[in-house]
Amino acid sequence: MRCLVTGGAGFIGSHLTDRLVSDGHDVTVLDNLATGLESNLDAVRSKINFFKGDLRDLEVVREAVDAQDVIFHLGALGSVPRSIDDPITTNAVNVNGTLNILVAAKDAGVKRLIYASSSSVYGDTPVLPKVETMPMRPLSPYALSKVTAEEYFRVFHSVYGLETVSLRYFNVFGPRQRPDSQYAAVIPKFVTALLNNQAPIVYGDGTQSRDFTFVQNNVEANILAATAPAEKVAGKVFNIACGGQHSLLELIDLIQISIGSSIKPIFIGTRAGDVRDSKADFLQANRAFGYFPSVGFVEGIDRTIKVLQG
Ligand SMILES: NC(=O)c1ccc[n+]([C@@H]2O[C@H](COP(=O)([O-])OP(=O)(O)OC[C@H]3O[C@@H](n4cnc5c(N)ncnc54)[C@H](O)[C@@H]3O)[C@@H](O)[C@H]2O)c1
Repeated sequence: MRCLVTGGAGFIGSHLTDRLVSDGHDVTVLDNLATGLESNLDAVRSKINFFKGDLRDLEVVREAVDAQDVIFHLGALGSVPRSIDDPITTNAVNVNGTLNILVAAKDAGVKRLIYASSSSVYGDTPVLPKVETMPMRPLSPYALSKVTAEEYFRVFHSVYGLETVSLRYFNVFGPRQRPDSQYAAVIPKFVTALLNNQAPIVYGDGTQSRDFTFVQNNVEANILAATAPAEKVAGKVFNIACGGQHSLLELIDLIQISIGSSIKPIFIGTRAGDVRDSKADFLQANRAFGYFPSVGFVEGIDRTIKVLQG
């Protein structure tokens, strides 16, 4: 199939691009390299079309979307703190950029679109695990941008008949996730700090929990959702996770044991917009397209540390 991966130079998008190329598909990547790296595509660079362009530019988006069978829409500005610092840019990229993709896809007759949504849409639910029928209660501009984009996906299915599918990712981690930004995710930050004999910084008391999911599981979910029968997936949302729940203290222990470090973390105040606990029920994705996480938390951490150790 001919497919477009937006955000394909990013962490998750580049792993998906690698997989699509190795499966023999004709792949185009649209990315402005705001947070992604062209080097993430080194292994497949000669086999893909790469558009260095911005999701906010409808003409560029139309060019990239033209003649595609499937669009995997991962391009976005991630991070809750970034969205609190600059809600306007987060909204412009994540919401207007998504609307551009949908409009261009409708006009070009693209059949199926898969959206990289987020567990942040739930906010702090009183009950765990989080299931898709729970109300959305975003706690940050980032989470609200994911809610809005997800809702645009649903509306473009009901109004225009596009086969749109939203996958709610829960704290994805793995190789290529950047440790080198103030907005970096917790796993590359902790591993890099401990490898450099520095104390990891924990916001809050470290008992907050996440359903950490190794990136290969998200890649698999995208492939399955792109090929599932329309009646099972179109216009729907699915949790994609491991169904586990691990505290940050447990995460630090695991990393310390793996790399042989005993440096204690430094605890500072909680951060606005952060969810307290997270754990997914992925039964819907399992029923609709056979999703099951093949790489668990501990194995995923092990693989990630090996790559960061070089
Ligand atoms: N990493 C996670 O834990 C997680 C969890 C839930 C949802 N998601 C979603 O998954 C997707 C991929 O996230 P990631 O972790 O790989 O992040 P990432 O920052 O590595 O990837 C995002 C990509 O989008 C590109 N991009 C940003 N703004 C753009 C613009 N205006 N035009 C074109 N490209 C642009 C970036 O350059 C980058 O390559 C995002 O939509 C994110 O919201 C990620």
